[in-house]
Amino acid sequence: MPHSKYIVAANWKMNKLASQAKPFVSEILMSYIRKNADLVICPPYTHLPHLSANKIISGFYLGAQNISEFESGAYTGEISADMLLDVGCTHVIIGHSERRAMNPFENSMIPNKISFALSKGLKVIYCCGEPLENRINGNEKSYVHDQLTHDLYHLSDLSQLIVAYEPIWAIGTGKTATSDQAEEMHLFIRKTLQSKFDKRSENLKILYGGSVKANNSIELCSKENIDGVLVGGASLIVDEFIGIVNSFNQ
Ligand code: PGA
Repeated sequence: MPHSKYIVAANWKMNKLASQAKPFVSEILMSYIRKNADLVICPPYTHLPHLSANKIISGFYLGAQNISEFESGAYTGEISADMLLDVGCTHVIIGHSERRAMNPFENSMIPNKISFALSKGLKVIYCCGEPLENRINGNEKSYVHDQLTHDLYHLSDLSQLIVAYEPIWAIGTGKTATSDQAEEMHLFIRKTLQSKFDKRSENLKILYGGSVKANNSIELCSKENIDGVLVGGASLIVDEFIGIVNSFNQ
């Protein structure tokens, strides 16, 4: 069902310097037509305070790329929900495939991280998606189904959750899923979550991520079940990113 307003989320990963963040975002905002798409910028942690004042003036949302499942304490190198809220974050990405690959314990922490972030009032951009091998073997849906049941089925409702389908083989590779492949999986995700959560998943937005560029975003967002995009590499280039954002305003 959703759409009504698209979401374009930028995942800067470990790129740019804090001092570059504000001028970069200001340039984006000069050409940003704030009509059909909400913008969420997810820079590295050190950049967040630099963007939070800007955020209030300009009306974009600020997100983090990860979060601890704990309130506070002896967790060296982690970041808490309160710390993110304190610098103006409204969103947090959880379950990105790069984090799942880097930390062998990440998968098991995801359900708690999601519940904790939601309990603190953060909106969660939850990432799922299959590796190449599962796509080749034709079992990509069962792989994603397992992720959804493991990561989300303990929740009581999905009103503050956004799903990002990011096939791992399409991330940073220049290989985008075709809009039909993406639409098929998005529909599958929507139906799977509807059968578990019923009306509590009614307004669920499902974003596509994986080599989204200005020249493929129009085709992707023409699909019924694609409610926006999560953009990595192209979100670091002003013209590309403006092209993507404004493709939702055609
Ligand atoms: P990409 O990354 O756009 O560079 O493929 C997307 C992501 O990892 O969120």
